[in-house]
Amino acid sequence: MPRFKTILVTGGAGYIGSHCVVDLLEAGHDVVAIDNFANAVGDEEGSPALQRAEQITGKKITFYKADLLNKSEINDIFDKHQIDCVIHFAALKAVGESMQQPLLYYQNNLLGMLNLLEIMRSHNCYQLVFSSSCTVYGEPESLPITETHPTGNITNVYGRTKYFIEEMLKDLSAAEKKWNIISLRYFNPVGAHPSGLIGEDPTKEFTNLMPFMAQVALGKKPVLTVFGNDYNTPDGTGIRDYIHVMDLASGHVAALNLISENHVGLKVYNLGTGKGVSVKELVNVFERVTGTNIPLKYVERRLGDITAMWADATLAKEQLGWTTKYTIEEMCSDFWRWQTMNPDGYPKKNIKASVII
Ligand code: NAD
Ligand code: WQD
Repeated sequence: MPRFKTILVTGGAGYIGSHCVVDLLEAGHDVVAIDNFANAVGDEEGSPALQRAEQITGKKITFYKADLLNKSEINDIFDKHQIDCVIHFAALKAVGESMQQPLLYYQNNLLGMLNLLEIMRSHNCYQLVFSSSCTVYGEPESLPITETHPTGNITNVYGRTKYFIEEMLKDLSAAEKKWNIISLRYFNPVGAHPSGLIGEDPTKEFTNLMPFMAQVALGKKPVLTVFGNDYNTPDGTGIRDYIHVMDLASGHVAALNLISENHVGLKVYNLGTGKGVSVKELVNVFERVTGTNIPLKYVERRLGDITAMWADATLAKEQLGWTTKYTIEEMCSDFWRWQTMNPDGYPKKNIKASVII
């Protein structure tokens, strides 16, 4: 029986949140999930992603359609449930949109976090796992990137919301010693649950490499545009640290385990595999394991893109006892299974969550 029984998962209907919920249920936690469906399929009837998480685990989830900007709604949820710890995924994450609508991003991501922290404190809940991002490092000064690499030199508004929240959490944990917080800096999450039942199905426009590549493989898009083949990398294309979403999920369970047993104040961990993979390499693996052909078109570099980034995840290994298990091949084949089993994503109608509030 885990020491933290009930976990509130914000953004639980989203890509990473829904996968993490599966691991939380399997680890024996009770899950209360909330989402406002800003970037996930679902409605008042519930979330198909969470319904499938219930199907995979055979366990029940309590779900609320709720918005972190609506304080009284969130307060009511804390009144109803004895929340032991919060995993805070809910945020807007589209880099391009954040440059066009900075206030939307500052309001949603910063105010959402502030509201949550205030409500947590008023309910005597001081345990938090926060979704941060490798984007806080900006253009790396050295590779692989450790947690001590400078942060804040960021070129986009979305990334700055993550950086500002991390700074806020530093101030908070310094001032109020009760807080027990882990900030997880994810590298590039890809893949899907191996069952093919849950995966990535954003409602907003997306521009990330793997979902785009899968759309090309399905024939829904004609060609994969490769942003630059003149980088200072072995094959000229950008390098990232792709991490399977189920490895990311297990990193959250490991973080919960640490703060349920220890008072850490505030700790920051990279979640990555420690291996850099280029765009061309990822495309080659994807083609090989899925038996598809991805037509490529090389164009100019994308504004704001960095050359290469991969994690040093030693600290998470040493202190969380966490390492990644999934290979690049599995990242591609699991994503492809999800995509071919659900070519149009989740069902958009007749969603029946078992718990509807
Ligand atoms: P996602 O968009 O699939 O999930 C976020 C969920 O939060 C969505 O379902 C959205 O509807 C919900 N949400 C947004 N604002 C909300 C609000 N005000 N109230 C309630 N719900 C709200 O994104 P994801 O890829 O699952 O990302 C989860 C978290 O991880 C985010 O904080 C994101 O910034 C962070 N992250 C993601 C990546 C990535 O590449 N996917 C990388 C690093 C960090
Ligand atoms: C990966 C590589 C592209 C699409 C983004 C966010 C970051 C973090 C993770 C949240 C790059 C290339 C891509 C395409 C391409 N998210 N590419 N053609 O840019 O590393 O990071 O997601 O915190 O904040 O910025 O991920 O998947 O968009 O790109 O050639 O159609 O693929 O240039 O080298 P990125 P990505």
